[in-house]
Amino acid sequence: MDSEAARTRLTFYARAVQQTRALAASQTKFLLEESQLPRRWYNIRSDMPRAPPRVLHPGTGKPVGPDDLAPLFPMELIGQEVSEEAEIAIPEEVLEIYRLWRPTPLYRASRLEAAIGTRSRIFYKYEGVSPPGSHKPNTAVAQAFYNKQEGRTRLSTETGAGQWGSALAFACKLIGLECKVYMVRVSYEQKPFRRSLIEAWAAEVVSSPSEDTQSGRAIREEHPDSPGSLGIAISEAVEDAAGRDDTAYSLGSVLNHVLLHQTVIGQEALAQMELADAFPDVVIGCVGGGSNFAGLAFPFMREKIAGREIDVLACEPAACPTLTRGLFAYDFGDTSKLTPLVAMHTLGHDFVPAPIHAGGLRYHGVAPLISQLVRDGLIRAEAYLQNDVFASAVLFAGSEGILPAPEAAHAIHGTLQVAKAADQAGEERTILFNLSGHGHFDMAAYDNYFAGKLEDVALDEDEMSRALHAIEGLPSPA
Ligand SMILES: Cc1ncc(COP(=O)(O)O)c(C=O)c1O
Repeated sequence: MDSEAARTRLTFYARAVQQTRALAASQTKFLLEESQLPRRWYNIRSDMPRAPPRVLHPGTGKPVGPDDLAPLFPMELIGQEVSEEAEIAIPEEVLEIYRLWRPTPLYRASRLEAAIGTRSRIFYKYEGVSPPGSHKPNTAVAQAFYNKQEGRTRLSTETGAGQWGSALAFACKLIGLECKVYMVRVSYEQKPFRRSLIEAWAAEVVSSPSEDTQSGRAIREEHPDSPGSLGIAISEAVEDAAGRDDTAYSLGSVLNHVLLHQTVIGQEALAQMELADAFPDVVIGCVGGGSNFAGLAFPFMREKIAGREIDVLACEPAACPTLTRGLFAYDFGDTSKLTPLVAMHTLGHDFVPAPIHAGGLRYHGVAPLISQLVRDGLIRAEAYLQNDVFASAVLFAGSEGILPAPEAAHAIHGTLQVAKAADQAGEERTILFNLSGHGHFDMAAYDNYFAGKLEDVALDEDEMSRALHAIEGLPSPA
Protein backbone atom coordinates (compact mmCIF):
# COMPACT_ATOMS: atom_id res chain seq x y z
CA MET A 1 0.00 0.00 0.00
CA ASP A 2 1.46 3.42 -0.87
CA SER A 3 1.68 6.03 1.87
CA GLU A 4 -1.19 8.12 0.44
CA ALA A 5 -3.58 5.12 0.60
CA ALA A 6 -2.38 4.28 4.12
CA ARG A 7 -3.01 7.89 5.23
CA THR A 8 -6.53 7.82 3.73
CA ARG A 9 -7.28 4.55 5.48
CA LEU A 10 -6.03 5.89 8.82
CA THR A 11 -8.15 9.03 8.41
CA PHE A 12 -11.21 6.85 7.74
CA TYR A 13 -10.43 4.75 10.81
CA ALA A 14 -9.93 7.78 13.05
CA ARG A 15 -13.19 9.29 11.81
CA ALA A 16 -15.08 6.04 12.50
CA VAL A 17 -13.67 5.90 16.05
CA GLN A 18 -14.63 9.56 16.60
CA GLN A 19 -18.15 8.90 15.31
CA THR A 20 -18.57 5.87 17.60
CA ARG A 21 -17.35 7.95 20.54
CA ALA A 22 -19.65 10.85 19.68
CA LEU A 23 -22.57 8.43 19.41
CA ALA A 24 -21.67 6.78 22.71
CA ALA A 25 -21.41 10.20 24.36
CA SER A 26 -24.97 11.08 23.38
CA GLN A 27 -26.45 7.63 24.04
CA THR A 28 -28.65 6.93 27.08
CA LYS A 29 -28.96 3.13 27.22
CA PHE A 30 -26.25 0.58 26.49
CA LEU A 31 -27.85 -2.76 25.72
CA LEU A 32 -26.50 -6.23 25.08
CA GLU A 33 -28.09 -8.97 22.99
CA GLU A 34 -29.44 -12.08 24.73
CA SER A 35 -26.63 -13.97 23.05
CA GLN A 36 -24.14 -11.80 25.01
CA LEU A 37 -25.40 -13.01 28.39
CA PRO A 38 -22.37 -14.18 30.42
CA ARG A 39 -22.14 -17.97 30.39
CA ARG A 40 -19.90 -18.22 33.47
CA TRP A 41 -19.93 -16.74 36.94
CA TYR A 42 -16.71 -15.08 38.10
CA ASN A 43 -15.16 -16.33 41.35
CA ILE A 44 -13.04 -13.62 42.98
CA ARG A 45 -11.47 -16.11 45.41
CA SER A 46 -9.08 -17.13 42.65
CA ASP A 47 -7.66 -13.57 42.48
CA MET A 48 -7.80 -12.38 46.09
CA PRO A 49 -4.40 -11.40 47.51
CA ARG A 50 -5.32 -13.00 50.88
CA ALA A 51 -7.84 -15.81 51.29
CA PRO A 52 -10.59 -15.21 53.83
CA PRO A 53 -10.26 -17.22 57.08
CA ARG A 54 -11.94 -20.65 57.09
CA VAL A 55 -15.56 -21.07 58.23
CA LEU A 56 -15.61 -22.79 61.66
CA HIS A 57 -17.90 -25.31 63.31
CA PRO A 58 -19.22 -23.58 66.46
CA GLY A 59 -19.05 -26.79 68.52
CA THR A 60 -15.57 -28.03 67.62
CA GLY A 61 -13.93 -24.78 66.50
CA LYS A 62 -12.60 -26.77 63.49
CA PRO A 63 -13.18 -25.79 59.84
CA VAL A 64 -16.57 -26.99 58.61
CA GLY A 65 -16.66 -29.70 55.96
CA PRO A 66 -19.24 -30.59 53.31
CA ASP A 67 -20.96 -33.06 55.66
CA ASP A 68 -21.67 -30.28 58.17
CA LEU A 69 -23.41 -28.23 55.49
CA ALA A 70 -25.22 -31.05 53.65
CA PRO A 71 -28.41 -30.87 55.79
CA LEU A 72 -28.87 -27.27 54.67
CA PHE A 73 -27.50 -26.95 51.12
CA PRO A 74 -27.19 -29.03 47.93
CA MET A 75 -23.68 -30.42 47.21
CA GLU A 76 -23.23 -28.28 44.10
CA LEU A 77 -23.66 -25.09 46.15
CA ILE A 78 -21.37 -26.41 48.89
CA GLY A 79 -18.77 -27.02 46.15
CA GLN A 80 -19.20 -23.48 44.83
CA GLU A 81 -18.88 -22.10 48.37
CA VAL A 82 -15.31 -23.41 48.66
CA SER A 83 -14.29 -23.39 44.99
CA GLU A 84 -11.14 -21.60 43.90
CA GLU A 85 -11.84 -21.98 40.18
CA ALA A 86 -11.81 -18.58 38.48
CA GLU A 87 -14.98 -19.28 36.54
CA ILE A 88 -17.96 -21.59 36.99
CA ALA A 89 -20.29 -22.49 34.13
CA ILE A 90 -23.92 -21.31 34.41
CA PRO A 91 -26.31 -24.21 33.70
CA GLU A 92 -28.35 -23.83 30.51
CA GLU A 93 -31.63 -24.12 32.49
CA VAL A 94 -30.59 -21.11 34.61
CA LEU A 95 -29.59 -19.10 31.54
CA GLU A 96 -32.98 -19.83 30.03
CA ILE A 97 -34.74 -18.18 32.99
CA TYR A 98 -32.18 -15.33 33.14
CA ARG A 99 -33.21 -14.50 29.56
CA LEU A 100 -36.62 -13.32 30.86
CA TRP A 101 -34.92 -10.08 31.97
CA ARG A 102 -31.16 -10.32 31.31
CA PRO A 103 -28.99 -8.74 30.05
CA THR A 104 -30.16 -5.74 32.08
CA PRO A 105 -29.65 -2.19 30.75
CA LEU A 106 -26.79 0.13 31.62
CA TYR A 107 -27.72 3.81 31.57
CA ARG A 108 -25.76 7.03 31.27
CA ALA A 109 -27.38 9.29 33.87
CA SER A 110 -27.06 12.48 31.80
CA ARG A 111 -30.14 14.08 33.33
CA LEU A 112 -28.85 13.46 36.84
CA GLU A 113 -25.47 14.88 35.83
CA ALA A 114 -27.24 18.01 34.52
CA ALA A 115 -29.44 18.27 37.63
CA ILE A 116 -26.41 18.42 39.94
CA GLY A 117 -24.20 20.28 37.47
CA THR A 118 -21.31 17.85 37.76
CA ARG A 119 -18.34 17.52 35.42
CA SER A 120 -18.24 13.80 36.14
CA ARG A 121 -19.88 11.12 34.01
CA ILE A 122 -22.35 8.90 35.87
CA PHE A 123 -23.47 5.44 34.69
CA TYR A 124 -25.77 2.97 36.42
CA LYS A 125 -26.61 -0.67 35.93
CA TYR A 126 -30.32 -1.25 36.48
CA GLU A 127 -31.35 -4.55 38.09
CA GLY A 128 -34.93 -3.45 38.80
CA VAL A 129 -36.10 -4.86 35.44
CA SER A 130 -36.27 -8.42 36.82
CA PRO A 131 -39.80 -9.75 37.53
CA PRO A 132 -39.47 -9.35 41.34
CA GLY A 133 -37.79 -5.96 40.87
CA SER A 134 -34.18 -6.43 42.02
CA HIS A 135 -30.90 -8.29 41.51
CA LYS A 136 -32.01 -11.06 43.88
CA PRO A 137 -33.30 -13.57 41.29
CA ASN A 138 -29.77 -13.89 39.82
CA THR A 139 -29.00 -16.23 42.69
CA ALA A 140 -32.56 -17.35 43.56
CA VAL A 141 -32.93 -19.08 40.19
CA ALA A 142 -29.53 -20.79 40.49
CA GLN A 143 -30.22 -21.95 44.05
CA ALA A 144 -33.68 -23.28 43.21
CA PHE A 145 -32.25 -25.08 40.18
CA TYR A 146 -29.50 -26.93 42.10
CA ASN A 147 -31.88 -27.85 44.93
CA LYS A 148 -34.40 -29.29 42.52
CA GLN A 149 -31.65 -31.15 40.67
CA GLU A 150 -30.54 -32.77 43.93
CA GLY A 151 -34.05 -33.83 44.94
CA ARG A 152 -35.18 -31.18 47.44
CA THR A 153 -38.86 -30.21 47.09
CA ARG A 154 -39.07 -27.26 49.46
CA LEU A 155 -36.92 -24.22 50.40
CA SER A 156 -37.05 -22.03 53.50
CA THR A 157 -35.62 -18.54 53.69
CA GLU A 158 -35.62 -15.16 55.40
CA THR A 159 -36.39 -11.81 53.83
CA GLY A 160 -35.64 -8.29 55.00
CA ALA A 161 -36.94 -5.90 52.39
CA GLY A 162 -39.21 -8.53 50.84
CA GLN A 163 -37.17 -8.37 47.63
CA TRP A 164 -35.30 -11.60 48.39
CA GLY A 165 -38.45 -13.41 49.55
CA SER A 166 -40.27 -12.49 46.36
CA ALA A 167 -37.24 -13.44 44.24
CA LEU A 168 -37.05 -16.90 45.80
CA ALA A 169 -40.84 -17.35 45.56
CA PHE A 170 -40.58 -16.44 41.85
CA ALA A 171 -37.69 -18.86 41.26
CA CYS A 172 -39.37 -21.71 43.16
CA LYS A 173 -42.60 -21.21 41.22
CA LEU A 174 -40.84 -21.35 37.84
CA ILE A 175 -38.64 -24.29 38.81
CA GLY A 176 -41.30 -26.23 40.71
CA LEU A 177 -40.47 -26.12 44.45
CA GLU A 178 -42.45 -25.15 47.54
CA CYS A 179 -41.17 -22.14 49.45
CA LYS A 180 -41.59 -20.69 52.94
CA VAL A 181 -40.50 -17.15 53.71
CA TYR A 182 -39.82 -15.72 57.19
CA MET A 183 -40.29 -12.00 56.65
CA VAL A 184 -38.77 -9.55 59.16
CA ARG A 185 -41.73 -8.17 61.14
CA VAL A 186 -41.11 -4.49 60.42
CA SER A 187 -41.06 -5.15 56.65
CA TYR A 188 -44.05 -7.49 56.93
CA GLU A 189 -45.98 -4.55 58.35
CA GLN A 190 -44.44 -1.82 56.17
CA LYS A 191 -44.84 -3.72 52.89
CA PRO A 192 -48.10 -5.67 52.62
CA PHE A 193 -47.87 -5.82 48.82
CA ARG A 194 -44.47 -7.55 48.91
CA ARG A 195 -46.31 -10.23 50.89
CA SER A 196 -49.02 -10.40 48.22
CA LEU A 197 -46.36 -10.77 45.55
CA ILE A 198 -44.75 -13.64 47.47
CA GLU A 199 -48.17 -15.29 47.71
CA ALA A 200 -48.89 -14.67 44.03
CA TRP A 201 -45.87 -16.88 43.34
CA ALA A 202 -47.46 -19.49 45.65
CA ALA A 203 -45.04 -19.26 48.58
CA GLU A 204 -46.03 -19.14 52.25
CA VAL A 205 -44.99 -16.02 54.16
CA VAL A 206 -45.03 -15.37 57.92
CA SER A 207 -43.97 -12.46 60.11
CA SER A 208 -40.64 -13.07 61.90
CA PRO A 209 -40.16 -13.66 64.82
CA SER A 210 -42.99 -16.16 64.33
CA GLU A 211 -44.73 -18.84 66.38
CA ASP A 212 -43.63 -21.49 63.85
CA THR A 213 -40.12 -22.11 65.21
CA GLN A 214 -38.45 -22.48 68.57
CA SER A 215 -36.11 -19.54 67.83
CA GLY A 216 -39.07 -17.33 66.92
CA ARG A 217 -41.06 -18.29 70.02
CA ALA A 218 -38.07 -17.67 72.32
CA ILE A 219 -37.49 -14.18 70.92
CA ARG A 220 -41.21 -13.31 71.09
CA GLU A 221 -41.30 -14.37 74.72
CA GLU A 222 -38.31 -12.23 75.66
CA HIS A 223 -39.09 -9.26 73.38
CA PRO A 224 -42.82 -9.24 72.50
CA ASP A 225 -42.35 -5.99 70.55
CA SER A 226 -39.28 -7.10 68.60
CA PRO A 227 -39.32 -5.49 65.12
CA GLY A 228 -37.42 -8.55 63.93
CA SER A 229 -34.12 -8.54 62.06
CA LEU A 230 -32.44 -10.51 59.32
CA GLY A 231 -30.42 -12.34 61.99
CA ILE A 232 -33.63 -13.54 63.68
CA ALA A 233 -35.36 -14.50 60.42
CA ILE A 234 -32.27 -16.48 59.36
CA SER A 235 -32.43 -18.45 62.64
CA GLU A 236 -36.04 -19.36 61.89
CA ALA A 237 -35.41 -20.39 58.29
CA VAL A 238 -32.32 -22.46 59.23
CA GLU A 239 -34.26 -24.22 62.00
CA ASP A 240 -37.10 -24.95 59.55
CA ALA A 241 -34.72 -26.52 57.01
CA ALA A 242 -32.66 -28.44 59.58
CA GLY A 243 -35.83 -30.09 60.87
CA ARG A 244 -37.10 -31.48 57.55
CA ASP A 245 -35.50 -33.80 54.98
CA ASP A 246 -37.46 -32.36 52.07
CA THR A 247 -36.32 -28.80 52.82
CA ALA A 248 -33.08 -26.93 52.17
CA TYR A 249 -32.18 -23.47 53.40
CA SER A 250 -31.61 -20.69 50.93
CA LEU A 251 -29.80 -17.45 51.77
CA GLY A 252 -30.18 -14.30 49.69
CA SER A 253 -26.77 -12.77 50.41
CA VAL A 254 -23.51 -13.06 52.41
CA LEU A 255 -22.33 -16.54 51.29
CA ASN A 256 -19.63 -16.98 48.64
CA HIS A 257 -21.91 -18.82 46.21
CA VAL A 258 -24.55 -16.09 46.41
CA LEU A 259 -22.01 -13.38 45.56
CA LEU A 260 -20.69 -15.61 42.78
CA HIS A 261 -24.12 -15.85 41.11
CA GLN A 262 -24.47 -12.08 41.16
CA THR A 263 -21.33 -11.52 39.06
CA VAL A 264 -23.39 -11.62 35.87
CA ILE A 265 -24.12 -7.97 36.73
CA GLY A 266 -20.53 -6.77 36.62
CA GLN A 267 -19.59 -8.90 33.62
CA GLU A 268 -22.40 -7.37 31.61
CA ALA A 269 -21.46 -3.91 32.88
CA LEU A 270 -17.85 -4.37 31.72
CA ALA A 271 -19.08 -5.05 28.17
CA GLN A 272 -21.59 -2.20 28.34
CA MET A 273 -19.01 0.33 29.58
CA GLU A 274 -16.93 -0.66 26.59
CA LEU A 275 -19.92 0.10 24.34
CA ALA A 276 -20.03 3.49 26.05
CA ASP A 277 -16.31 3.88 25.35
CA ALA A 278 -15.72 4.41 29.05
CA PHE A 279 -14.21 2.72 32.09
CA PRO A 280 -15.14 3.62 35.67
CA ASP A 281 -12.75 5.39 38.05
CA VAL A 282 -15.24 4.67 40.82
CA VAL A 283 -17.58 1.66 41.30
CA ILE A 284 -20.31 2.00 43.91
CA GLY A 285 -22.98 -0.22 45.47
CA CYS A 286 -25.08 -0.45 48.62
CA VAL A 287 -24.25 -3.18 51.10
CA GLY A 288 -26.62 -5.23 53.24
CA GLY A 289 -25.10 -8.70 53.16
CA GLY A 290 -23.14 -7.55 50.12
CA SER A 291 -24.49 -9.47 47.13
CA ASN A 292 -25.50 -6.68 44.72
CA PHE A 293 -22.34 -4.74 45.55
CA ALA A 294 -20.16 -7.79 44.89
CA GLY A 295 -22.15 -8.62 41.76
CA LEU A 296 -21.24 -5.32 40.16
CA ALA A 297 -17.86 -4.71 41.78
CA PHE A 298 -16.08 -8.10 41.68
CA PRO A 299 -15.56 -8.30 37.90
CA PHE A 300 -14.10 -4.76 38.08
CA MET A 301 -11.98 -5.73 41.09
CA ARG A 302 -10.43 -8.43 38.96
CA GLU A 303 -9.01 -5.52 36.93
CA LYS A 304 -8.12 -3.61 40.10
CA ILE A 305 -6.21 -6.55 41.56
CA ALA A 306 -4.41 -6.82 38.20
CA GLY A 307 -3.19 -3.23 38.65
CA ARG A 308 -5.87 -0.92 37.26
CA GLU A 309 -6.77 2.05 39.46
CA ILE A 310 -10.40 1.91 40.61
CA ASP A 311 -11.96 3.34 43.75
CA VAL A 312 -14.52 0.80 45.03
CA LEU A 313 -17.05 2.23 47.47
CA ALA A 314 -19.56 0.31 49.64
CA CYS A 315 -22.50 2.34 51.01
CA GLU A 316 -24.35 1.38 54.18
CA PRO A 317 -26.86 2.94 56.60
CA ALA A 318 -25.59 4.83 59.66
CA ALA A 319 -28.16 2.82 61.67
CA CYS A 320 -26.36 -0.43 60.76
CA PRO A 321 -22.75 0.59 60.02
CA THR A 322 -21.22 -2.87 59.77
CA LEU A 323 -18.24 -2.08 57.53
CA THR A 324 -17.48 1.40 58.83
CA ARG A 325 -17.77 0.68 62.56
CA GLY A 326 -18.09 -3.09 63.06
CA LEU A 327 -15.25 -5.41 64.11
CA PHE A 328 -13.60 -7.97 61.82
CA ALA A 329 -14.23 -11.06 63.92
CA TYR A 330 -15.65 -14.56 63.94
CA ASP A 331 -19.40 -14.40 64.53
CA PHE A 332 -22.61 -16.27 63.87
CA GLY A 333 -24.65 -15.40 60.80
CA ASP A 334 -27.87 -15.49 62.83
CA THR A 335 -29.22 -14.40 66.19
CA SER A 336 -29.86 -17.83 67.71
CA LYS A 337 -26.33 -19.11 66.91
CA LEU A 338 -27.44 -21.92 64.60
CA THR A 339 -25.04 -21.13 61.72
CA PRO A 340 -21.29 -21.84 61.51
CA LEU A 341 -18.86 -19.11 62.60
CA VAL A 342 -17.67 -16.84 59.80
CA ALA A 343 -14.94 -14.19 59.88
CA MET A 344 -16.56 -10.94 58.82
CA HIS A 345 -17.24 -7.36 59.81
CA THR A 346 -19.96 -7.62 62.43
CA LEU A 347 -21.91 -5.59 64.96
CA GLY A 348 -22.67 -8.72 67.01
CA HIS A 349 -25.21 -11.43 66.20
CA ASP A 350 -27.87 -10.23 68.63
CA PHE A 351 -27.77 -6.63 67.37
CA VAL A 352 -31.23 -5.56 66.19
CA PRO A 353 -30.86 -2.50 63.93
CA ALA A 354 -33.33 0.37 64.24
CA PRO A 355 -36.36 -0.13 61.97
CA ILE A 356 -35.10 2.09 59.14
CA HIS A 357 -36.79 1.79 55.75
CA ALA A 358 -33.90 0.14 53.95
CA GLY A 359 -34.95 -3.24 55.38
CA GLY A 360 -32.49 -5.13 53.17
CA LEU A 361 -29.55 -3.33 54.79
CA ARG A 362 -30.49 -4.25 58.38
CA TYR A 363 -28.00 -7.08 58.85
CA HIS A 364 -25.39 -7.35 61.63
CA GLY A 365 -22.71 -8.86 59.36
CA VAL A 366 -21.33 -8.55 55.83
CA ALA A 367 -20.15 -11.17 53.35
CA PRO A 368 -16.76 -12.64 54.38
CA LEU A 369 -15.35 -12.00 50.87
CA ILE A 370 -16.19 -8.30 51.06
CA SER A 371 -15.01 -8.07 54.67
CA GLN A 372 -11.62 -9.51 53.72
CA LEU A 373 -11.28 -7.12 50.76
CA VAL A 374 -12.12 -4.17 53.05
CA ARG A 375 -9.55 -5.46 55.53
CA ASP A 376 -6.98 -5.58 52.71
CA GLY A 377 -7.73 -1.99 51.69
CA LEU A 378 -9.22 -2.85 48.30
CA ILE A 379 -12.73 -1.62 49.14
CA ARG A 380 -13.68 1.41 51.24
CA ALA A 381 -17.01 2.09 52.94
CA GLU A 382 -19.19 5.04 54.00
CA ALA A 383 -22.38 5.22 56.09
CA TYR A 384 -25.32 7.60 55.53
CA LEU A 385 -28.41 8.85 57.38
CA GLN A 386 -31.77 7.89 55.91
CA ASN A 387 -33.18 11.39 55.29
CA ASP A 388 -30.09 12.23 53.19
CA VAL A 389 -30.51 8.96 51.31
CA PHE A 390 -34.19 9.63 50.58
CA ALA A 391 -33.38 13.17 49.41
CA SER A 392 -30.94 11.67 46.88
CA ALA A 393 -33.53 9.05 45.86
CA VAL A 394 -36.08 11.77 45.09
CA LEU A 395 -33.52 13.82 43.18
CA PHE A 396 -32.70 10.73 41.13
CA ALA A 397 -36.39 9.94 40.46
CA GLY A 398 -36.92 13.53 39.40
CA SER A 399 -34.14 13.41 36.81
CA GLU A 400 -33.76 9.78 35.67
CA GLY A 401 -37.41 8.82 36.30
CA ILE A 402 -36.86 5.56 38.19
CA LEU A 403 -38.00 5.48 41.81
CA PRO A 404 -35.26 3.50 43.58
CA ALA A 405 -35.57 0.96 46.37
CA PRO A 406 -34.40 2.59 49.63
CA GLU A 407 -31.45 0.15 49.71
CA ALA A 408 -30.31 1.12 46.22
CA ALA A 409 -30.75 4.80 47.12
CA HIS A 410 -27.67 4.44 49.37
CA ALA A 411 -25.61 3.83 46.23
CA ILE A 412 -27.18 6.89 44.58
CA HIS A 413 -26.31 8.97 47.63
CA GLY A 414 -22.75 7.65 47.58
CA THR A 415 -22.48 8.54 43.90
CA LEU A 416 -23.62 12.10 44.55
CA GLN A 417 -21.03 12.45 47.33
CA VAL A 418 -18.25 11.25 45.03
CA ALA A 419 -19.35 13.56 42.18
CA LYS A 420 -19.55 16.52 44.57
CA ALA A 421 -16.10 15.87 46.01
CA ALA A 422 -14.65 15.56 42.49
CA ASP A 423 -16.25 18.87 41.44
CA GLN A 424 -14.87 20.59 44.54
CA ALA A 425 -11.41 19.25 43.72
CA GLY A 426 -11.80 20.39 40.09
CA GLU A 427 -11.63 16.77 38.92
CA GLU A 428 -13.70 14.73 36.51
CA ARG A 429 -14.62 11.14 37.35
CA THR A 430 -16.38 8.32 35.56
CA ILE A 431 -18.69 6.79 38.16
CA LEU A 432 -20.61 3.53 37.86
CA PHE A 433 -23.16 2.43 40.45
CA ASN A 434 -25.59 -0.42 40.89
CA LEU A 435 -29.26 0.51 40.97
CA SER A 436 -30.14 -2.80 42.59
CA GLY A 437 -33.93 -2.49 42.56
CA HIS A 438 -36.99 -0.29 42.16
CA GLY A 439 -38.98 1.07 45.08
CA HIS A 440 -42.54 0.47 43.88
CA PHE A 441 -43.38 -1.53 47.01
CA ASP A 442 -41.70 1.03 49.27
CA MET A 443 -44.22 3.83 48.90
CA ALA A 444 -45.03 3.87 52.64
CA ALA A 445 -41.39 4.75 53.21
CA TYR A 446 -41.58 7.57 50.66
CA ASP A 447 -44.85 8.78 52.26
CA ASN A 448 -43.10 8.96 55.62
CA TYR A 449 -40.20 10.82 54.09
CA PHE A 450 -42.49 13.37 52.41
CA ALA A 451 -44.40 13.81 55.70
CA GLY A 452 -41.12 14.54 57.52
CA LYS A 453 -41.59 11.46 59.69
CA LEU A 454 -38.33 9.63 58.98
CA GLU A 455 -36.00 9.48 61.93
CA ASP A 456 -32.27 9.84 61.38
CA VAL A 457 -30.70 7.08 63.40
CA ALA A 458 -26.95 6.71 63.78
CA LEU A 459 -25.94 3.72 65.85
CA ASP A 460 -25.35 4.71 69.44
CA GLU A 461 -21.87 3.94 70.86
CA ASP A 462 -23.28 2.29 74.02
CA GLU A 463 -25.58 0.01 72.05
CA MET A 464 -22.68 -0.94 69.82
CA SER A 465 -20.48 -1.91 72.78
CA ARG A 466 -23.36 -3.88 74.30
CA ALA A 467 -24.00 -5.79 71.08
CA LEU A 468 -20.31 -6.54 70.56
CA HIS A 469 -20.18 -8.30 73.95
CA ALA A 470 -22.00 -11.14 72.21
CA ILE A 471 -18.85 -12.12 70.32
CA GLU A 472 -16.53 -12.20 73.32
CA GLY A 473 -15.00 -15.63 73.72
CA LEU A 474 -15.43 -16.61 70.06
CA PRO A 475 -12.24 -17.48 68.12
CA SER A 476 -10.24 -14.61 66.58
CA PRO A 477 -9.37 -14.58 62.87
CA ALA A 478 -5.65 -14.82 62.05
C1 LIG B 1 -33.05 -3.68 46.20
C2 LIG B 1 -32.08 -4.22 47.19
N1 LIG B 1 -30.82 -3.78 47.15
C3 LIG B 1 -29.90 -4.22 48.02
C4 LIG B 1 -30.23 -5.13 49.02
C5 LIG B 1 -29.18 -5.54 50.00
O1 LIG B 1 -28.76 -6.87 49.87
P1 LIG B 1 -27.34 -7.20 49.29
O2 LIG B 1 -26.35 -6.41 50.09
O3 LIG B 1 -27.19 -8.65 49.46
O4 LIG B 1 -27.36 -6.80 47.86
C6 LIG B 1 -31.53 -5.63 49.09
C7 LIG B 1 -31.87 -6.62 50.11
O5 LIG B 1 -32.96 -7.00 50.32
C8 LIG B 1 -32.48 -5.14 48.16
O6 LIG B 1 -33.73 -5.56 48.21
